[in-house]
Amino acid sequence: MIKIVTIIGARPQIIKAAALSRAIKNKFSTDITEIIVHTGQHYDENMSQVFFDELGIPAPNYNLNVGSGSHGKQTATMIAGIEEILVNEKPNAIVLYGDTNSTLAGAIAASKIHVPVVHIEAGLRSFNKAMPEEVNRIMCDHVSTLLFSPTKTGFQNLLNEGFKANNAKPYNANNPKIYHSGDVMYDNSLHFSEVAEQKTTIIAKHDLQKNNFILATIHRNNNTDEPIRLNALFNALSKISEANKLDVLLPLHPRTAKLLEFNLDQELHQKIKASAHFKIIEPVSFLEMIALEKNCKIVMTDSGGVQKEAFYFEKPCVILRPETEWVELVECGTAIITDANEQKIIEAFKTLTSKSDMQFPKLYGDGKAAEFICGEMKGNL
Ligand code: UD1
Ligand code: UDP
Repeated sequence: MIKIVTIIGARPQIIKAAALSRAIKNKFSTDITEIIVHTGQHYDENMSQVFFDELGIPAPNYNLNVGSGSHGKQTATMIAGIEEILVNEKPNAIVLYGDTNSTLAGAIAASKIHVPVVHIEAGLRSFNKAMPEEVNRIMCDHVSTLLFSPTKTGFQNLLNEGFKANNAKPYNANNPKIYHSGDVMYDNSLHFSEVAEQKTTIIAKHDLQKNNFILATIHRNNNTDEPIRLNALFNALSKISEANKLDVLLPLHPRTAKLLEFNLDQELHQKIKASAHFKIIEPVSFLEMIALEKNCKIVMTDSGGVQKEAFYFEKPCVILRPETEWVELVECGTAIITDANEQKIIEAFKTLTSKSDMQFPKLYGDGKAAEFICGEMKGNL
């Protein structure tokens, strides 16, 4: 029996962790014991607890309750808390997801006291170190022992950075093992796809017409913190909505909700508030999000996870960022990168909604990435 300590903190990590906890419960319960540590990076009910309730994730064994703060303060507080838990729990490994400050804190705390790091979503790169996430993921990958990349591109990025494809056991931070495992988020999308529509009423609740609304999310720090960019994004959404008489549903991240008051032009803000078509709502649950993704006409987002879920549910996507780590989406022609450029967003909307021949090949695994990861952890830690 091996013991792992899983670190979660931000919304997408809680969702990703559900896939691994499910695989452990269903197939590896006699091989792997999981201790869950919530850093408390996200803490609002609809950014955290809702996912535990809905996705059947075990309650965290520890909650560090770090809350919000500057990068340094938030990460440092997490490092101290995680280190103490690792010293007490003496796990075989720490499991880290993605690229948030919770990921980085786990990587630093564990690697310094020689607890092997398992990184799920390894190898992804935007090649833009102005993104806090790019710094977090590079640092985490380079102290990891087992690295699970969801995509071929991610695997290749690791090779390009000097990782070897064929290291032999035993694996450690100086002799790491890299894998192309598929995406645990695809596991989740498949698993929850059917129940999402049965168990939610979100489409009716907001009076949405099936296949005839835009699903939007905006939360990247460069989009929310820079007024010019935030205004360009909301102007584009507002114009598209008006010109096409199309509803926009925007479940709003608390970061963006707080900054709208300061960074959005007052007149535009009032116009959006008064519009019957522009529906800004609180963050929704994962099942509600899947129901929205399955039933929308098009997704417009700066989220990493939502870009991919659009693809899983065969919807086109406008990527409201200067680049993406999920380059396959763009290569397939189902997603277009527009950055926060009003004109490009409007053009991408036109291009994607007039295309009739989109292909959505299976690029992200077979829906069993979490089981594969558990098998490799069992055999290699
Ligand atoms: C973080 C991640 C980002 C990820 C996103 C997922 C980092 C550096 N960034 O960004 O990669 O895409 O989570 O959603 O780790 N807030 C609340 N309630 C909450 C959580 C946050 O009000 O429950 C507000 C606070 O004002 C906080 C702000 O949102 O300061 C930003 O939260 P933070 O966790 O620092 O970063 P995110 O933008 O959420
Ligand atoms: N999500 C959700 N409710 C929302 C918005 C997003 O459940 O209101 C889910 C979404 O389906 C995806 C994940 O949260 O699984 C993406 O998280 P987010 O966009 O916050 O972060 P990112 O993926 O960009 O790191």
